[in-house]
Amino acid sequence: MKKIISVKDISLDYKERDIFKKMKGSNKSIGIENISFDVEEGNIFSIIGLNGSGKTSTLKCILGLMKPDKGEIEVFGKKGLRGKDFEKVGYLPEISYYPKSMKLIDLMRYYGELYNIPKNKLDKKIDIILTKLDLISRKKDRLEKFSKGMLQKVGIAQAILNDPKLLFLDEPMSGLDPLAREMVIEIILELKSKGTTIFFNTHILEDVANIADKVAIINKGKLVEVLDMKKIELKQDNFLLKDYFIKTMIELRTN
Ligand SMILES: Nc1ncnc2c1ncn2[C@@H]1O[C@H](COP(=O)(O)OP(=O)(O)OP(=O)(O)O)[C@@H](O)[C@H]1O
Ligand SMILES: [Mg+2]
Repeated sequence: MKKIISVKDISLDYKERDIFKKMKGSNKSIGIENISFDVEEGNIFSIIGLNGSGKTSTLKCILGLMKPDKGEIEVFGKKGLRGKDFEKVGYLPEISYYPKSMKLIDLMRYYGELYNIPKNKLDKKIDIILTKLDLISRKKDRLEKFSKGMLQKVGIAQAILNDPKLLFLDEPMSGLDPLAREMVIEIILELKSKGTTIFFNTHILEDVANIADKVAIINKGKLVEVLDMKKIELKQDNFLLKDYFIKTMIELRTN
């Protein structure tokens, strides 16, 4: 299978990014340490780990939003994403900030322009996506009227607007109700069926167990292991990711 993402031995120390900490000679502030893994085309790859374990830092390094202190990252077979590559990529940040006075439709059109989606196709595309996420009736509302979960769905809508070849979701289910969660799972699986590679960070182990092909467990910035869910299912009928994860975390804490 073709590799879409290759992460080789990357480390990120936040101290190096903080001039005051550097001047004071503070201790290291490890984001991630010596992380390596590959993501294959068309796969759903998930990172799980406790709060502060390095999930968001890893994702930001792959996207090029943060530069690791060492190591190498290839995306689409090239060193780092740039320029037109971003038209093929979707990204839901952990926390999204939108201009509150903007109407949903205007925000979506703005993203459409960033992705270079042809104008004659854009409005139809927006309607399809907003319908899928049950936001269509709020299309002309200003974002200041949106609830937390509704804003999260807006984030998902913008992330998938360009039919990405590669989709990054940082805790996509955060704040979503059970129905919305189902909608997002359906959207992820539909994208996968069209060949999209999906990379997502989450705390919802049930979703990971249901849809991920590979699962990376990280702890305190280090990669613990990468599980191939298909191989595990074949070996053990009753494998429960949740139990395995909790057991692993307890072992790591007591070691
Ligand atoms: N801007 C920052 N400045 C300094 N340290 C940071 C910064 N962002 C993250 N860190 C540190 O890097 C480590 C990894 O954080 P990261 O946000 O990647 O974790 P996470 O796994 O995404 O956590 P969560 O589940 O809470 O989202 C933590 O120790 C955190 O304190
Ligand atoms: Mg995070």
